[in-house]
Amino acid sequence: MENFTYYNPTKLIFGKGQLDKLPKEVDQYGRKVLLVYGGGSIKRNGIFDNVVEKLKEIDANIFELGGVEPNPRISTVRKGIEICKQEGIEFLLAIGGGSTIDCTKAIAAGAKTDIDMWDIVTKKAHATDALPFGTVLTLAATGSEMNRGSVITNWETNEKHGWGSPYTSPKFSILDPTHTFSVPRDQTIYGMVDMMSHVLEHYFHQADNTPIQDRFCESVLLTVMETAPKLLQDLENYDYRETIMLSGTLALNDMLSMGFRGDWATHNLEHAVSAVHDIPHGGGLAIIFPNWMKHVLDDDNASRFKQLAVRVFNVDPIGKTEREIALEGIDKLREFWNSIGAPSKFADYAIDESSIEEMADKTVIARPAYGNFKQLTRQDSVEIFRASL
Ligand code: NZQ
Ligand code: ZN
Repeated sequence: MENFTYYNPTKLIFGKGQLDKLPKEVDQYGRKVLLVYGGGSIKRNGIFDNVVEKLKEIDANIFELGGVEPNPRISTVRKGIEICKQEGIEFLLAIGGGSTIDCTKAIAAGAKTDIDMWDIVTKKAHATDALPFGTVLTLAATGSEMNRGSVITNWETNEKHGWGSPYTSPKFSILDPTHTFSVPRDQTIYGMVDMMSHVLEHYFHQADNTPIQDRFCESVLLTVMETAPKLLQDLENYDYRETIMLSGTLALNDMLSMGFRGDWATHNLEHAVSAVHDIPHGGGLAIIFPNWMKHVLDDDNASRFKQLAVRVFNVDPIGKTEREIALEGIDKLREFWNSIGAPSKFADYAIDESSIEEMADKTVIARPAYGNFKQLTRQDSVEIFRASL
């Protein structure tokens, strides 16, 4: 593996009733608090009221920014920055899924600079500081609750980019699995596809000697695959929600990728799709990932696909070539995602041939070639998108 330094400063507070710890955690940073949330699910399921009740214990002065969109927009980030600057906000609390948390990260960084946040998202400039923030996670998917990354969309330019900084790790994240009981079936599926995709992005790397990381990755994949069908039969089962919630965090808190850089081409491809079509991130990944796998599979890298096929998808290797085993594993991934009801082609979102060129352009805005396991160019994007129609 490569040399590495691992540092993750987010305090993870996990389990039923852990919202009780909120007032003490917030009070370390300040009492002028901006609550950031999405389209209203937290008002319907009671989480909002519970948070407000808890914050009364420290007499917090509460401000609100609701309406954060799935695939959060730079326009909303700018609104939040304005509130922070005008009101002298001391602490931000994201209550929601990855979109709300990512938006909060961008507000936190933007509140500490006069540089336009879009310039930081597009890496023309860098964040130099951020307001402190915490999260109350309500959807298991992105891992944003325990990493420093954020993904923001600009609907004026149809661009969606990931960015991150040393200042945008949450100070704490409260993960109560009961907060995810109300996540609808489709979002539950997208979330599980997303966390599996994060593990798969890690799994396809070019470093040598990563047996412990490989088996960590395989164990998260196997656990999600074992739990997913049971959870979808019983959406309010605490044990299943708990398993999936922890899986989502572990899949992208950088623990599984110690000592190497994962591939991340599929995420680049998906972000290009949702920059143009505003589809759910996990839905896009389910369509694209197996097609990326088939596109990059070759004789030099087939052994990695074979290992995944045999260890995770139970493919019987006897009497088959590496390539045959690899392809069978890829088919089993597709079958699994189909079996839990994930989308499998662009047509499921009414995306057709006509936007392929535009989406392919978006895959190479940040850099002309992308992907660490296998470098891809715009032409590869076109081919993978065609295979996804
Ligand atoms: O907006 P509300 O009303 O809250 O409803 C949300 C939203 O409609 C709903 N929801 C969330 N918790 C709920 C709930 N509904 C009922 N009960 C609850 N407890 O779910 C919908 C989707 O929420 P969203 O936050 O958009 O989902 P997700 O967590 O999948 O986040 C997706 C965003 O994260 C980015 C994606 O690109 C996308 O923009 N990503 C962020 C990453 C990161 N920061 O590390 C990595 C990922 O790869 C990903 O790119
Ligand atoms: Zn993702």
